[in-house]
Amino acid sequence: MAEKKVKTIGVLTSGGDAPGMNAAIRAVVRRALAQNVSVKGILKGYDGLINNEMVDMTSRDVSDIIQRGGTILYTARCPEMRTPEGLATAVETCKKNGIDGLVVIGGDGSFAGAQKLANEGINAIGVPGTIDLDIACTDYTIGFDTAINTAMEAIDKIRDTSASHERCSVIEVMGRHAGYIALWCGIANGADDILLPEYYDYDEQKLIEKIILNRSRGKTHHIIINAEGIGHSTSMAKRIEAATGIETRATILGHMQRGGSPSCRDRFYGSLMGAYAVDLLLRGETKRIVGIKSGEIVDFDINEGLSMKKQISKEQFEIAQTLSYSYGNFNLGAAGTINPLKHKF
Ligand code: ADP
Ligand code: F6P
Repeated sequence: MAEKKVKTIGVLTSGGDAPGMNAAIRAVVRRALAQNVSVKGILKGYDGLINNEMVDMTSRDVSDIIQRGGTILYTARCPEMRTPEGLATAVETCKKNGIDGLVVIGGDGSFAGAQKLANEGINAIGVPGTIDLDIACTDYTIGFDTAINTAMEAIDKIRDTSASHERCSVIEVMGRHAGYIALWCGIANGADDILLPEYYDYDEQKLIEKIILNRSRGKTHHIIINAEGIGHSTSMAKRIEAATGIETRATILGHMQRGGSPSCRDRFYGSLMGAYAVDLLLRGETKRIVGIKSGEIVDFDINEGLSMKKQISKEQFEIAQTLSYSYGNFNLGAAGTINPLKHKF
């Protein structure tokens, strides 16, 4: 029997917004329209699917969005989608609107929703969009690159003031349960300590001793990047200050990490993966997750992709740790004092 021809596809963004989602939406819309397939933009993620909120997308609707952060389709966390009733309504909405295939741009939670829809006969393709980089079947997720650059720039700024006041700074970055943003920024910002949920041993005394040791060696500020998965940065800062006598401040970077104009990489891969998802649907492929492996676009069965496990690199973490110590001679001078201009930074 001939494949049923795909006439209409839906696209939605779900979970936390991520810079580059708009590039992916634009690519889905234009790649489909170019092949005479119509596109419905579903608003507010699974909320819009359950409540039948959608718009017919034209090529013009996606003009002038590739450079914008956020998502023009809005996004939401939709607890109802986790219930059998919510799922059944979402399936009904797809059928009622003649949606032959659905592109879900989001994280692994969103993919779990897509998996359930696919099991109910609604063909869904996942495109990874999350700043957390925590999807196992892909090396890359839309939004991560912009988020780490945004965070890196903010941390550089905090470092300036931390150094000027000779303080210790605990800077908390996002990532939910994963430490990728913390690891990348920790290395890129030359942090003195990086606390990752995957490897942190909760030995705060060790942390305190390192701050004191670094201070005794002439280092007058100390940057700790703390991942959201560990959290409690404010109380941690208070304890560090009490134990070391060094003024310590906590900064939680928060949602600024999710905003802003997407980087070139996020626009590039967002565009390619969005187009690729449409191609999969038009080829009659079902239940796939798109990803990037070794720079190439790949796709996996949604069940296989979601069952994969990913481990943050221990080696990269260990290298980061060796780079954060001061080694060698400390040229304390005849009087045992440190030349502040030479050794402060
Ligand atoms: P992300 O997609 O970024 O991981 P969430 O985990 O918040 O973000 O998931 C986004 C949405 O996907 C949820 O609000 C919910 O609507 C849907 N979702 C998440 N997990 C499931 C699940 N197990 N079953 C059905 N839908 C789910
Ligand atoms: O998944 C992206 C993310 O920003 C996580 O890093 C963070 O844990 C979460 O979303 C915050 O979600 P919300 O914006 O709903 O508070």
